[in-house]
Amino acid sequence: MLLGVNIDHVATLRQARYAQMLDSENAEPSVLGAAFAAQRGGADSITIHVRGDRRHMQDADARLIRKEVKLPLNLEMGNTPEMVEFALSLKPDFVCLVPETREEITTEGGLDAVLHEAELKPTIEALSQAGIKVSLFIDPCVAQVEAAARLKAPMVELHTGAFANATGMDKQVEVEKLVVAATTAHHLGIQVNAGHGINYQNIELLQYVPHLHELNIGHTIISKAIFVGLEEAVSEMKQLVGSLVTKPLL
Ligand code: PXP
Repeated sequence: MLLGVNIDHVATLRQARYAQMLDSENAEPSVLGAAFAAQRGGADSITIHVRGDRRHMQDADARLIRKEVKLPLNLEMGNTPEMVEFALSLKPDFVCLVPETREEITTEGGLDAVLHEAELKPTIEALSQAGIKVSLFIDPCVAQVEAAARLKAPMVELHTGAFANATGMDKQVEVEKLVVAATTAHHLGIQVNAGHGINYQNIELLQYVPHLHELNIGHTIISKAIFVGLEEAVSEMKQLVGSLVTKPLL
């Protein structure tokens, strides 16, 4: 299983102080430096979310990372004409289409691929024709997976937020939803990734979810990095990801 490291929070921290002074030599922390540190720690890909409101990652960050970092780049973005144009010029390895609303601090729910099938179709076609592998960030729900299959999306990223936030018996229910969604996607020939809210503790439960190819993880890694450094934080997560052996959920 692979580890994609989401470094948006590094840009969030920089923007908190330097949003109006990005060219200043004082503008820190460096998102490019973060991408390199993640690479040294064993990341298999770098994920950045360039939001419509550019609240954290900027176009220039994306272009610099694309140019300088050899790891595959996963661009998360909303399905808007502006972002499609940006993706076609950036040419990341992967695009993960996510829902975006202005108010949310981070991505809160999955993309409704059933509701938005008509708008998603031309975007997926345009990106695919440009050689970009498209993923849909969806809730772990069979109807969403089936919509992804109809749209010929080669990958889905199952939203693990509800799983991460569930407590008690609800945790098992959320794991079961992930198992069913992952199994369905796999049978439909779709690569299965997962992300949002995965941390150093709850990752263990993902051993029950079959067919996971890549986990995209941000918040917990950046949080740990405050204490141990980013390279070490990524390296510890990479070990956990690498040691996950899928088991049946009894
Ligand atoms: N995957 C997607 C699509 C996301 O939008 C995010 C960030 O919200 C993540 C993964 C990473 O989530 P987290 O920061 O909770 O690890």
